[in-house]
Amino acid sequence: MQFYVVYFSPAGTTGHAARIIREELALLGAQFSLVNLNDAANSFAGGSLPGALQDSCLFIGSPVYAGHAVPAVMDFIAGLPKGIHCCSVPFVTWGAVTSGVALYEMARALEEKGYPVRAAIKIVAEHSLLWQSENPLGKGRPAAADDDKVRTLVKHVVGALAAGQSACLSVSALNYQSEALQKIFAGLSINAARKVLPQLTVQPELCTRCGVCVAACPVGAVELADKPVFNERCIACYNCLRACPEQALQADFSRMQAGLEQRQKDFGEICETAVYLP
Ligand SMILES: Cc1cc2nc3c(=O)[nH]c(=O)nc-3n(C[C@H](O)[C@H](O)[C@H](O)COP(=O)(O)O)c2cc1C
Repeated sequence: MQFYVVYFSPAGTTGHAARIIREELALLGAQFSLVNLNDAANSFAGGSLPGALQDSCLFIGSPVYAGHAVPAVMDFIAGLPKGIHCCSVPFVTWGAVTSGVALYEMARALEEKGYPVRAAIKIVAEHSLLWQSENPLGKGRPAAADDDKVRTLVKHVVGALAAGQSACLSVSALNYQSEALQKIFAGLSINAARKVLPQLTVQPELCTRCGVCVAACPVGAVELADKPVFNERCIACYNCLRACPEQALQADFSRMQAGLEQRQKDFGEICETAVYLP
C-alpha cells in the first residue's frame, strides 16, 4: 500500500502535523510521499494525477479557516481521481476557537470520491492570526502530547490496514457540531471573513517591489503592479505581511485577540486534540 501525506499550511502547523505523520510512517516501514499543496510546482498538487488511484491511503490535512477546510484542500479532494481500494485520513489543525465543520466536510468529499475514512484527528494549534500576541489562543500547541496523539492515529491506521481490517469511520461521527452551530458555519466562509478581518494596506514609500510577498503567498493572490495588489484568491493568511522585509504591508490586529476570545466562549468547544477511530 502506498501512503500519501498531502497538506496545505500557510503558517506551518499543519505542515508540522504532516511531518509527524511522515516520521511515524517511516518508523513503521511504510512507503509514502509527502505533498505540500502550497507548492504549485508539485505535480501531485498540480493535477497530473493518474485516472484512478489504487491501493493508496491518503492522509490529508488542512488548517481550519472560518470553521471550514481551506479551498486549496477542498479543491484538491474534488480533483482526486477515483479511488480503487483506497482510503483516507483527514486531519485539521485549529486555533482553539472552533474546529467547525472542516473534518466533516473533508470526510464527506473523500467518501464521495471513493476514499472511505479510516480515522481522523483535529489538532489544537496556536491561532495563526495571533502570531504577534504574547499569549495567543492555543499557545504552545501542538505540544508533545498532541504529537503523540498523531502518532497513535498513524499506528492505528497502518496496523489495521496491515491486519486486513476493513472497519472505517462513519462520517457522521465527525458531524459533532450542534445543529445551531452547523447553521452558523453554513453562513461562514473565508470570503465573508476577509471582509471583517484587518484590511491589508500597502505603504508605497516603504515598498521596494522585492517580490517577497508574492513568493510568500500560498495561493497566488499577490501581484506586483507598481505596488502589491491582492486578488480574490486571498485567504487572509497574512503570510505576505509577515514576510515583508520592509513592513510595507500593514494591518491593524489590535482588536483581534479580544474578538477571538469572545468567539471561543461563544462556540464552547473543548480545547483538546481529538482522535476519531472506528
Ligand atoms: C483567516 C483565518 C481564519 C481562521 N479561522 C479559524 C477558526 O475558524 N477556528 C479556529 O480555531 N482557528 C482558526 N484559525 C487558526 C488556524 O486554524 C490555526 O492557527 C491553524 O493551525 C493554522 O494552520 P497553519 O499553521 O498550517 O497555517 C484561522 C486562521 C486564519 C489565518
